[in-house]
Amino acid sequence: MTCIRSEIIGHGHYLPAKELTNDDLAKIVDTSDEWISTRTGIKSRHVAAEDEYTSDLAVKAAQMAIRTANISAEDIDAIVLATVTPDNTTPATSAKIAGKLGLKVGTPAFDISAACSGFVYALTMADNMIRLAQAKTVLVVSAETLSKITDWTDRNTCVLFGDGAGAVVLRAKEGNGTSEDTGILATKIYADGSQYDNLLSNGGVSTTQTAGHLWMNGKEVFKYAINSLTQAAEEVMSMGGVTSQDLDWLIPHQANVRIISGVGQKLGLPEEKVIVTIDHQANTSAATIPLALSESMEKGLIKKGDLVVFNAMGAGFTWGGALVRI
Ligand code: COA
Repeated sequence: MTCIRSEIIGHGHYLPAKELTNDDLAKIVDTSDEWISTRTGIKSRHVAAEDEYTSDLAVKAAQMAIRTANISAEDIDAIVLATVTPDNTTPATSAKIAGKLGLKVGTPAFDISAACSGFVYALTMADNMIRLAQAKTVLVVSAETLSKITDWTDRNTCVLFGDGAGAVVLRAKEGNGTSEDTGILATKIYADGSQYDNLLSNGGVSTTQTAGHLWMNGKEVFKYAINSLTQAAEEVMSMGGVTSQDLDWLIPHQANVRIISGVGQKLGLPEEKVIVTIDHQANTSAATIPLALSESMEKGLIKKGDLVVFNAMGAGFTWGGALVRI
């Protein structure tokens, strides 16, 4: 039966110029390249300049996505930004990005706050808008400047995060309703509010009137991440009527290489099908998946027609997955 699918027609990414290696961090806190590499898989991360904001990173990634989609900014019917590091408390940073990109006046713009699951949440909302015929072409952007809410004196957290942005352009396309269609085939999002205190920024507008700093119960997050990421991937594959044997790629949220390999193994995927970019990007929260996707497409690794699962987990806890044929 024919149906509307949201096809990824453009991809973009941007990393700030400044790179901070593990050796650079060892000069700031009591840590070492050996500890960070073996525990997390991270070798370096990018850090935004003081006057470089989330919207600046987002605009660069969005411009690349618009260019690779071969469309113009006026063709966009809606913009969704996933971030936990907005430029201002209000308005939504997506509105600023819409202005900078020159989107048509009247184009809806909103932010989604779902931490590291932000891209999967934003993709789900954009796909729903397209399938309900509320929009034909939607720009989905994820951008973070986590360095601005990092406690640079805390070795438990400051070694884990980085700044960056990724974007995709989705466009409505008629499909046959089978897993052979290109576009988003299934999405599923979740949350468990009982885990609120295990991963958070310890400040906020209503509580402290500050943005706070990132804090986490690393061991709890680690355990929960492996199970929830596996569950989300299995669920969207089952919804789409495929198995892990049919997959060309898994693009998991990049939080820790040990979590990534644990999930890959649980899903029975060979290592070479699991995309890993954490070594040079660290954890950029909502941005890790579109950054990894765009880098991999630019390199020619991920190609048109490939079957991919995105899965992410983060503060909330939130988690989710998407099954997509590129
Ligand atoms: N350098 C050196 N030592 C460090 C360190 C650092 N950067 N950070 C912590 N340590 C120390 C700890 O203080 C601890 O020392 P102690 O035993 O004397 O108390 C020791 O290393 C071991 O810490 P531990 O917590 O057992 O390490 P771990 O193997 O659990 O790894 C994380 C820690 C944070 C890397 C891991 O728990 C993790 O990745 N969790 C998930 C985090 C995550 O993904 N968060 C975002 C999700 S979206």
